[in-house]
Amino acid sequence: MSAGDLQVDRPHSARIYDFLLGGRDNFEADRQAAAKMLEHTPNLPVSMKANRRFMARVVRHLARGGIRQFLDVGTGLPTKPNLHEVAQEVAPDARVVYVDNDPLVLVHARALLTPTGTGSVAYLDADLREPETVIESDAVVKSFDLAQPVAVTLIAVLQHVTDDALARHVIDELMAPLAAGSALVLSVVTVDNDPDAGPETVRTYNQHGVPAVARSRAGVETLFGGLELAEPGVVPVHHWQPTDEDRQVDDASVYVYGGVAFKK
Ligand SMILES: C[S@@+](CC[C@H](N)C(=O)[O-])C[C@H]1O[C@@H](n2cnc3c(N)ncnc32)[C@H](O)[C@@H]1O
Repeated sequence: MSAGDLQVDRPHSARIYDFLLGGRDNFEADRQAAAKMLEHTPNLPVSMKANRRFMARVVRHLARGGIRQFLDVGTGLPTKPNLHEVAQEVAPDARVVYVDNDPLVLVHARALLTPTGTGSVAYLDADLREPETVIESDAVVKSFDLAQPVAVTLIAVLQHVTDDALARHVIDELMAPLAAGSALVLSVVTVDNDPDAGPETVRTYNQHGVPAVARSRAGVETLFGGLELAEPGVVPVHHWQPTDEDRQVDDASVYVYGGVAFKK
């Protein structure tokens, strides 16, 4: 794959996020966009780390509750721990399908594809805005038993689906063929915590050609419509089954709501 395919001259969501998490899989254009965001919202890395910890807590919780199949849509670049490492630590037989449409994530997918348990890990290069290409894919059909529950995790990705009706469609299509007991995990960008500076960072994404939107708590609750929202409902991610580390985090620093709901 060439630098042209990777579009290294323009920022990409996965690479900005990687940079803000302290990773090295990013380019000058990503770092410049991130620097602009940090001018407005210097605590963005705190938020992103809290988001990763949320992912790990939820996946651990669901695996302990018996879920063995995870469809992670909008995976991002490999980081520590990756979702399959968390799931397979609890349940070695867990099966994970990762989905992303970023070419650099595809390049790095090999690092994601090493199961740490006896289960499996697959990677699908697909655009979630065409959810049927995800849910009807060979990766999903071959990896999962759709008669058994699946957890669909959309972690910090729906901010790039700016149209609410499309976001609704994506969720509905992904959940429709799944068995009762399946879970939807969402973490969704908000600026409710920081209405002054937060919108500037959302604007910076858009100005750099990465479409992004922030949603209110009510907006996130709407995305869970038709499913049974588990306690504590939609909360800033560091409030969802918080650890001591999460309890130290300042509410104003966290730009992400999270929640989990189940299919009846
Ligand atoms: C901010 S990162 C979040 C990564 C990871 N889920 C996390 O929370 O740590 C957003 C990811 O969603 C991916 N993404 C954005 N739009 C997408 C789309 N239409 N289809 C598939 N993936 C998409 C990006 O490439 C990026 O890897």
